[in-house]
Amino acid sequence: MSDAGGGGSEEYKREESVALLVIVSLAALSLLSLIAAFAYYCYITRKVSRRLHSLQPPKRSGSPPAPPPRAPPPPPPQQQQQGKESPSSNSASDGAGAAAAGMAVVVAGERGVQVFSYRQLHAATGGFGRAHMVGQGSFGAVYRGVLPDGRKVAVKLMDRPGKQGEQEFEMEVELLSRLRSPHLLGLIGHCSEGGQRLLVYEFMANGGLQEHLYPNTGSCGGISKLDWDTRMRIALEAAKGLEYLHERVNPPVIHRDFKSSNILLDKDFHARVSDFGLAKLGSDRAGGHVSTRVLGTQGYVAPEYALTGHLTTKSDVYSYGVVLLELLTGRVPVDMKRPPGEGVLVNWVSINIR
Ligand SMILES: Nc1ncnc2c1ncn2[C@@H]1O[C@H](COP(=O)(O)OP(=O)(O)OP(=O)(O)O)[C@@H](O)[C@H]1O
Ligand SMILES: [Mg+2]
Repeated sequence: MSDAGGGGSEEYKREESVALLVIVSLAALSLLSLIAAFAYYCYITRKVSRRLHSLQPPKRSGSPPAPPPRAPPPPPPQQQQQGKESPSSNSASDGAGAAAAGMAVVVAGERGVQVFSYRQLHAATGGFGRAHMVGQGSFGAVYRGVLPDGRKVAVKLMDRPGKQGEQEFEMEVELLSRLRSPHLLGLIGHCSEGGQRLLVYEFMANGGLQEHLYPNTGSCGGISKLDWDTRMRIALEAAKGLEYLHERVNPPVIHRDFKSSNILLDKDFHARVSDFGLAKLGSDRAGGHVSTRVLGTQGYVAPEYALTGHLTTKSDVYSYGVVLLELLTGRVPVDMKRPPGEGVLVNWVSINIR
């Protein structure tokens, strides 16, 4: 009996130590998983902050040292010559002149954006009166205004509360305060007071390209007055805007909402790319992609991005192709009121050019 009792207690002890071993192993495993998760979190945080800080266009002479940029592709001979002849055109203040000369002006981070009070912008736009309103987009209404120093501005007033609007506002300020090119719309300043979010841009006297391509649907009325040469120049300048984002900035910036209404025209019909709220920093590996939620505008989103969520600079190139087709054909990307087979511009063109 005593033997049986001794055997039982030994067995009990053995079970106890096995249980202890299991508990200790489980605890060690959980600790290891926690450490691994924390290390991964630190890695991701560092990667994101490194990418944001490395978002520097090529260094401008005289500016403080920046991280080594991606070597810009050799400019066409005409650009090189103009660059040599007029080194002073590498400044922010003469962007328009340089735009006309087809040169990229890079002064990122040097001419910071201004912070405005709501009162200042209220006064500049005549109290956001209807007479000052020049357009309405998904972010909010756009108002024409004049700053006390006489500069004409366009003020975008966010009327979409919520996370998406807030993210778009932050991305627009973050990117446009670092990037400068005569082919991108310049951000003059912003205002963030309470729940109010406002963006202040250079005023583009001729508004969005879309309004000139389809005047019947806009305020212009009548047939488009854009002549062929102007259309081709707009296409070239918009391409230069994209080229700057994709090739001259490291990591590249993917616009993600490139479309005709985001190409704005100044008084001489020079084009600038606008609206960076949906932009993403791309992969710096050649041909690399970033996986992300599919966002953009119907008719302009690249099919492979729509299907896989893999976003690359090529996704913008697809959207650019759609804009080019709009310029060539004068048709909107999607119009289901058209005869069967003609509703989607890309399909209609690809069937007809075979
Ligand atoms: N800087 C500007 N100068 C002059 N007019 C502008 C300026 N920015 C926007 N606008 C006018 O406001 C209109 C609306 O622009 P907004 O970018 O808000 O919307 P959208 O591009 O038409 O649409 P979405 O919100 O879907 O991008 C433009 O079509 C243009 O007429
Ligand atoms: Mg827009």
